[in-house]
Amino acid sequence: MTYVLHRTLSANLPTVVAGDGNYLIDSEGKRYLDACGGAAVSCLGHDNTRVREAVKAQMDKVAFAHTSFFTNEPAEELAEHLITRAPKGTGNGRVMYLGSGSEAMEAALKLARQYYLEKGETARTKIIARKPSYHGNTLGALATGGHEGRRAPFQPLLMDVDHIDAAYDYRMRKEGETQVAFGLRMANLLEERIQVLGPESVMAFVAEPVVGASLGTEPAPVGYFRRIREICDEYGVLYIADEVMCGMGRTGTTFALEQEGIHADLTTMAKGLGAGYQPIAAVMASEKVISTIEGGSGLLWNGHTYMSHAVAAAGALAVQKVIEEENLLSNILERGAQLQNELNARFGQHPNSGNIRGRGLFWTVELVRDKATKSPFTVASKLAPKIQRAALDQGLMCYPAQGCADGTNGDHILLAPSYTSTAAEISEIVDLVSTAIDAGLKQVAP
Ligand SMILES: Cc1ncc(COP(=O)(O)O)c(C=O)c1O
Repeated sequence: MTYVLHRTLSANLPTVVAGDGNYLIDSEGKRYLDACGGAAVSCLGHDNTRVREAVKAQMDKVAFAHTSFFTNEPAEELAEHLITRAPKGTGNGRVMYLGSGSEAMEAALKLARQYYLEKGETARTKIIARKPSYHGNTLGALATGGHEGRRAPFQPLLMDVDHIDAAYDYRMRKEGETQVAFGLRMANLLEERIQVLGPESVMAFVAEPVVGASLGTEPAPVGYFRRIREICDEYGVLYIADEVMCGMGRTGTTFALEQEGIHADLTTMAKGLGAGYQPIAAVMASEKVISTIEGGSGLLWNGHTYMSHAVAAAGALAVQKVIEEENLLSNILERGAQLQNELNARFGQHPNSGNIRGRGLFWTVELVRDKATKSPFTVASKLAPKIQRAALDQGLMCYPAQGCADGTNGDHILLAPSYTSTAAEISEIVDLVSTAIDAGLKQVAP
């Protein structure tokens, strides 16, 4: 009997009682190696002493003081930490704290609207995002995302958002087309759409620098984001980078966009920010946005009760210090290269492995019915959930998803191990995921 409204009402979930490094332990004593951080959240495992101590210490000082009266030390220090490590071009920006990635996306959209109102460009209301994509589950974030399955039941409630195709190398790059030409072709879709909508009406372009769950750890083609930046600058459109999943070190740099050589006007972050020790998200506004607001009303037109929560900020600050002071970005690169090599060795020739892609400690195996034609399994065959079940039976947590091929069909398994992963843990993840994939494949019709 449960009174909790779980994701699946009939689910008989195990009860988690403890964390031990990169393992979770349930009430029966079963251990689960966390190869996906839940959903790319738990990037420091489940029992980090420094983060726990920081949370407890802040709790003993003060937990909450409303932001219309006070600021607090951890919120100030964390904002400085983030701004001083932001991609070049961000300038003297500012950080607003929220409770979830969806809330951060909502706040970014509202800041974009405020920016144009303060500038007097009141006709700018339109948002262009990509499909597939996922930007969260609140109504504004859901409308922005290009995830058909999640949008469908709520469609009548969603605001209008335009979507261009995401740059999906495996299925969209033409035979003989170079990565650079592909990147340019896909980025130019934004310019075409801005021209169709009318440049004076477009407010923002939204995209993840490395696509997370909707497409499965898909890095952008070389040059794609440089061209996006050029287009945004030419038409005066703001670029909102959703780094909720790919940010905070996950791909090997603090901000994923650093690797593309550009900056965003607004950046959202969440999962790796608090690493699951505290529920916290943020939106970072660049100097361009902040100076316009400062020169205008000087007010933030969007507030929430729990923003800048002192305990949440203290937890996230400790997480970011651990990542930096324990040099975990280099572990991400080393263990990421190991994961890439071992996945390629294990699945390169596998008859149902269509594509292996990713960056840093953020990797995906896309499964196909037929390697030559790239035809996916149908959504009804539920291959990815079956693999997740088989993995859990063996004590491995991985992140399954469906819909990458055409919005509905297509299965992939996403791996996002902890930044503290050891070489032995990475090899164990590959062994266990390989057994789980074969077990899942056995349960679906060929
Ligand atoms: C890229 C991206 N943006 C936004 C969100 C929404 O975050 P939350 O679930 O914390 O609201 C997610 C969640 O998975 C995400 O992956």
